[in-house]
Amino acid sequence: MNIILLGPPGAGKGTQSARLVENHGMKQLSTGDMLRAAVKAGTPVGLKAKAVMDAGELVSDEIVSELIDAELEALGSDTGAIFDGYPRTEAQAGSLDEILAKHGRTLDHVIELAVDVDALVERITGRFSCAECGALYHDTANAPAKEGVCDSCGSTEFKRRPDDNEETVRTRMEEYRAKTAPILPGYEARNIVTRVDGMADIDAVTGSIEAILT
Ligand code: AP5
Ligand code: MG
Ligand code: ZN
Repeated sequence: MNIILLGPPGAGKGTQSARLVENHGMKQLSTGDMLRAAVKAGTPVGLKAKAVMDAGELVSDEIVSELIDAELEALGSDTGAIFDGYPRTEAQAGSLDEILAKHGRTLDHVIELAVDVDALVERITGRFSCAECGALYHDTANAPAKEGVCDSCGSTEFKRRPDDNEETVRTRMEEYRAKTAPILPGYEARNIVTRVDGMADIDAVTGSIEAILT
């Protein structure tokens, strides 16, 4: 099973990917996470990407498609892939088709997380994650059970993303509207798109996605 989770910044792609990894042993392929890891490690890709990401703009199609290709190369053929935050442009959608074909995979579902744009700024500015294991939280919607302690690993260190401020979020949303939303009709023509209400609570969204996969 290979699926795309598509939706604007803060739609819940990362949150739902983590559930799918846990419930189905799938592999989350988040180009955002890969790029943040490259920035942290100071690799050539990271050095190029940092300023672009901090501005909320899109990194080049070549860079992200190469990251995805390399990850699939390393992934066992029995393990399903969740594409989180990729593809984001028409060019990337074309590259993904080629990359999947090269690795003998087919795209089963494109799951569109439909969200109300006004709620997204609130979601993103309230987001934080565990510095140790990366578990995702939100100040009000999804706080750790014990304040200041990660539910997953017990760490007490948390972090926030540098691009999670209101101004950058607006640019990220505009990039989504202008460059990413236009890839949907191509997938709709292939009859593989299902729209899910991303404004429901986190468990309900997971339930809707599970219903698509079974
Ligand atoms: P990326 O990391 O992909 O960021 P994004 O698309 O902006 O999406 P987010 O990670 O912000 O949101 P999400 O949908 O994962 O939401 P989450 O689950 O965290 O990309 C970052 C940057 O990298 C880009 O701007 C670009 O520069 C670059 N980049 C990445 N991929 C690229 C590509 N392919 N091409 C070019 N450039 C690329 O949820 C958000 C918050 O809401 C959390 O706090 C969560 O707890 C909470 N929440 C989640 N679901 C719910 C719910 N149902 N109800 C209430 N709260 C919820
Ligand atoms: Mg994410
Ligand atoms: Zn943790």
